[in-house]
Amino acid sequence: MDFLWICLILLAVVLPEGSLADLEKQRMGSGLEIYKKLFEVKRKDQMNALKNLIELNDINQQYKIIDIMLKGLFKVLEDSRAVLIAADVPPDGPFPQDEKLKDAYSHVVENTAFFGDVVLRFPKIVHHYFDRNSNWNNLIRWGIGFCNLTGVFEQGPHSQLLGLMAQELGISEKSPNYRNPFKADHSEFFPSADTFQKALREEEKRRRKEEKRKEIRKGPRISRSQSEL
Ligand SMILES: *[C@@H]1O[C@H](CO)[C@@H](O)[C@H](O)[C@H]1NC(C)=O
Repeated sequence: MDFLWICLILLAVVLPEGSLADLEKQRMGSGLEIYKKLFEVKRKDQMNALKNLIELNDINQQYKIIDIMLKGLFKVLEDSRAVLIAADVPPDGPFPQDEKLKDAYSHVVENTAFFGDVVLRFPKIVHHYFDRNSNWNNLIRWGIGFCNLTGVFEQGPHSQLLGLMAQELGISEKSPNYRNPFKADHSEFFPSADTFQKALREEEKRRRKEEKRKEIRKGPRISRSQSEL
């Protein structure tokens, strides 16, 4: 699996394309109970996408992919929030009937859940981007609150997710016995904080160099064309 491919898989699960609305139409129905089943299908896709990202096992690439993916995820969350608020859709009301509202509703639920997976699996990388972005903080606070009231997360395999992600993100206070359930796995990807910091620094150095190179490339081209005149 290469970088681009994993990027595409991840974007496919966070961007509106391939939304559940189509599936739902085929199944001829509405209502929260049907949505919950579709949500489980979507969760399987998300888990597969996440598995690919984990197995990539290359911190620089994971860093870049998560950066791209989070931008897409929060853009969708922001747009969906705007749609739901404008239409006054209550999270604890009936599942919306309107296609546009259904899409917005499912994008909020799915992207919030997926962001939870990513922050629990890659806490350091996500904190690196998330902690300096107050807009994202506002959005996910709202998303967690919304999801909590939908009842979609109430039972089953995702019942812990909202609580855990809120604690990991510092949105709700960490309970004394909070622990990231995936922390153990991380030793594999983050042998130590130092290694991660080193990889991070190298990545930033590389980016700065690249930018400088671009500027230099731009420079001479202008002077060359001037001298050619
Ligand atoms: C979800 O709602 C319940 C009941 O209001 C609350 O106790 C809990 O803290 C909320 N969870 C999150 C993650 O916000």
